[in-house]
Amino acid sequence: MRQLRLLDKNKDLNNLKILLRVDFNVPLQNQVVSDSTKITKVKKIIINLLHRGAVVILCSHLGRPQVKGKAGFSLEPIKIAAEKIIGQEITFINENFKKNIEDKIQKGKKLFLLENLRFDAGEEKDSDYFSKTLADLGELYINEAFSCSHRQHASIHGITKFIDSYAGETIYEELMALNSIISDTQKPVACLIGGSKISTKIDLITNLLPKVNYMIIGGAMANNFLKYKNFKVGKSKIENNIDSTVKSILNSAIQNNCELILPVDVVTAKTFEDKGINKQLDQIEDDDMILDIGNETIKNISNILKKSKTVFWNGPFGFFEKDNFAIGTNQISMVISELTKQGQLISIAGGGDTFAAIKKSKKENDFTYISTAGGAFLEWLEGKILPGLKVLEIKN
Ligand code: 3PG
Repeated sequence: MRQLRLLDKNKDLNNLKILLRVDFNVPLQNQVVSDSTKITKVKKIIINLLHRGAVVILCSHLGRPQVKGKAGFSLEPIKIAAEKIIGQEITFINENFKKNIEDKIQKGKKLFLLENLRFDAGEEKDSDYFSKTLADLGELYINEAFSCSHRQHASIHGITKFIDSYAGETIYEELMALNSIISDTQKPVACLIGGSKISTKIDLITNLLPKVNYMIIGGAMANNFLKYKNFKVGKSKIENNIDSTVKSILNSAIQNNCELILPVDVVTAKTFEDKGINKQLDQIEDDDMILDIGNETIKNISNILKKSKTVFWNGPFGFFEKDNFAIGTNQISMVISELTKQGQLISIAGGGDTFAAIKKSKKENDFTYISTAGGAFLEWLEGKILPGLKVLEIKN
């Protein structure tokens, strides 16, 4: 990937109108923000731009209003949360963006938030019309939404045709962290891939196998490997018609001299409310569900982490939403956190569920880097070109 256009730190921004694409696609419960990590992430950047005299126009999408309707998808509740976090008044603009912003600037307002961009069908269609409407609002555009950069949408992609455009600091930081997994990496590198659906992670695993020393598979996706190896998996979550994928991953690991590690014991239960029993793989019964990794597996993973210099983690290792089955994921989080604090491990984690699981274990501040991005994070690691980054590359 070529270098991205970054804004000169000394550029005079006084009275410049900057359109700042942020990712305020945050979870809401009863119209109240329940996790504000994505807002906190850009706080420093917004304050810095305001200090440099800029007028800052924040814009974001929220959910999928073109599919589900607009009700419940306004960004107004997010404005309230953002004002508290940023500590500045934010003027909410829900229509006639250009005219309303100009009027409010005359009244001394400096910080704005636009209504949900996906309320306009042109956003997801990457229409020139909507791209230009947005570009006309400012003199400069900065993308601070790495997590949306896999979307070829107007506010991420099309807009850059019509306005002086830059990649923001958070994108730069994210890419530096991701690069440290696949280049300039301190070896040995361990990769932990969990979660439930192997079909969504085939490209990720395939792309990473040649670059890492240990590929540790956990979560429900490991069940497919256990079944392939002729262990009973009872009523556990598995995917159908996936044997050839499993076989090719196992072969690719051998070809790439990468040690592929699977659970050697598991925690099973008959219902999600049960406490869970640690079982060897040959003890699994027909009505058992595998819901976590077992003690021996935790020990194996810990030993691998102790001899690794870099770890990359995506996907929980059990049904972590239930405390009884969060032990494996928590233990991994704790070991990584400890080794990182001791300076023995560079730890990078990413993805929505992974972030939630690490947060649940209260170790989110101990990792070297945690990405809150979901789809964009995975697509980048799969080696795909993100349209929102491509348009910000420096052209020769
Ligand atoms: C995310 O939460 O991963 C980003 O905001 C992208 O959201 P989307 O999947 O709705 O495009």
